[in-house]
Amino acid sequence: MCGIVGYIGKNKDAKKVVLEGLKKLEYRGYDSAGITVYNEEKSEYEIYKDFGRVQKIVDLTKDVAKTSVSIGHTRWATHGKVTKDNAHPHYSDTKRFIIVHNGVIENYEELKNIYLKDLKFYSETDTEVIAKLIEEFSKNRNTCDAIMDTLKLLKGSYALLVIDTLDSDTIYVAKNKSPLVIGRSNEGVTIASDLMALVGYANEFFSLPDHTFVVANENQVKMFNLNHEEQKVTYQEIDLDESSADMGEYQHYMLKEIYEQPSVIRRVIQNYLTDQKEIIKSELINEIKNSDRVYVLAAGTSMHAGYVGKALIEELVNIPVEVHIASEFAYHMPLLTKNPFFILVSQSGETADLRACLLNIKNKGFKTLTITNVKTSTLAREADFYLELFAGPEIAVASTKAYIAQIAVFAILANKIALNSIDIKSELNRVAVAIEIFLENQEISILAHEKLTKQNCFYIGRGLDYYTSLEAALKLKEISYIQTEGFAAGELKHGTIALIEDKTPVIALISNKDIALNTRSNLKETNARGAETIIITLESLKHKDDEIVLNDVNSFLAPMLMVVPTQLLAYYAALERGLDIDKPRNLAKSVTVE
Ligand code: F6R
Repeated sequence: MCGIVGYIGKNKDAKKVVLEGLKKLEYRGYDSAGITVYNEEKSEYEIYKDFGRVQKIVDLTKDVAKTSVSIGHTRWATHGKVTKDNAHPHYSDTKRFIIVHNGVIENYEELKNIYLKDLKFYSETDTEVIAKLIEEFSKNRNTCDAIMDTLKLLKGSYALLVIDTLDSDTIYVAKNKSPLVIGRSNEGVTIASDLMALVGYANEFFSLPDHTFVVANENQVKMFNLNHEEQKVTYQEIDLDESSADMGEYQHYMLKEIYEQPSVIRRVIQNYLTDQKEIIKSELINEIKNSDRVYVLAAGTSMHAGYVGKALIEELVNIPVEVHIASEFAYHMPLLTKNPFFILVSQSGETADLRACLLNIKNKGFKTLTITNVKTSTLAREADFYLELFAGPEIAVASTKAYIAQIAVFAILANKIALNSIDIKSELNRVAVAIEIFLENQEISILAHEKLTKQNCFYIGRGLDYYTSLEAALKLKEISYIQTEGFAAGELKHGTIALIEDKTPVIALISNKDIALNTRSNLKETNARGAETIIITLESLKHKDDEIVLNDVNSFLAPMLMVVPTQLLAYYAALERGLDIDKPRNLAKSVTVE
């Protein structure tokens, strides 16, 4: 996690570029922030850092004059508490080297004991060890060699920006596992954890491969491997639109992203089912068709979309599918079948647990597909195939529109393998319209106010609705901090029903006619024990007094529609509690540590 940004160039104010970039990267962590800027008048670097948000650093540096070099950091704490001392940048013993770091150095204690025994440390971070090691090594070699020799000792992940204060014309850059992109224009060089921070400052960019080291100055970017051999750099155009990351008329990104969902579905349709180009290649179809089992790997919300994907592939394609938690699969791989195919699902395309899975799978020689929202991401680049979500930048930490797009892409893929057995275009359109109608008329804030009054809550459902209940529960707990569980409706009575008390909210999801009555019975069982119940269902299955009734859609795609009221319930519950909806506590959007 964490976001880093650097800029070098005379045409822009480096401080402004870095701080604006950091604001765009706050989704990666927002425990603390900091920058270093070159003070041209005094010919020295100054460091500004503190716990809290980037805005604090903006305020702290408001009187700092225009500068041509700066690096900065927004932190999601891994090593050490959320304090000013642990905020980046960190520096070496004499403050000659200043660095910002995203990643985790696993052997930092060991390195500290071997090389840095007598030095005083000012933070509890792994990062300070890197800065101090570089300085130790610089005592008998040049800066490049000192950095490279340090990199060779590091075990773990890093995206690093290093400043040698003896040189105001260079930023040194290094990367292993944590994402990093470098952009350029005739206005200078910008470096960041995510392309979004380059928009407006660079026309073209490249993503650094692992184990590379870059020396960047205003006019030149040179990339090396760790043996100091120069590597070829190929730039590509940046085709991100800054306006899509704007909050517009909405009070929060999450609300905006919920309301964008119908247009996201239409964009998926446009890209996969209307344009002439064939995004889903026949090689991919053949790989899946010829496999004896598909393994879907993902985390959090993406994993919940993966469960729906499983149901779609099994039903339409008739190949067994297993869904696995990425962080478990990476180190406790189950027995695989002879001819497996792997689908990695990730909004960000950067989740470290998934990258660990990908490396293991590649080592075994199996083929992989990444389904992601970020086509320039590590997982998109490194898998054999990738499919894009076309959801546009998702800024709110809680994922909404990417989930909808993930299911849509799974449905299109499964249907294509099944030789288009469903008129998927019109079925997806029907979902988009049903979501629109619901969003135009929804009164969820009242329901959230009246019924979500307790510190715990349950979602229940069967079949696909069970998968939706898992996602609904995650959404509610992560932004409102109401402890929520998603349950298979029939399972509640096998123990968990003991938790139902007077006014405990239990929300039933009912979109499948074959089991609708069973779920209603399960809900009644909780009602009889005092639960405050809500039913979310479809028009053709409604009973008098059901709280939320949605238009009918194809039952395969119902999860895309059924989840929307639950996203809003979470949103309004958090709003009512006055919480930071777009940046819930302890979280980050792109989880780049294992
Ligand atoms: C929850 C949420 C997370 C992510 C998870 C995986 O709202 O967003 O659970 O789904 O961290 O992230 P990606 O999809 O980027 O791999």
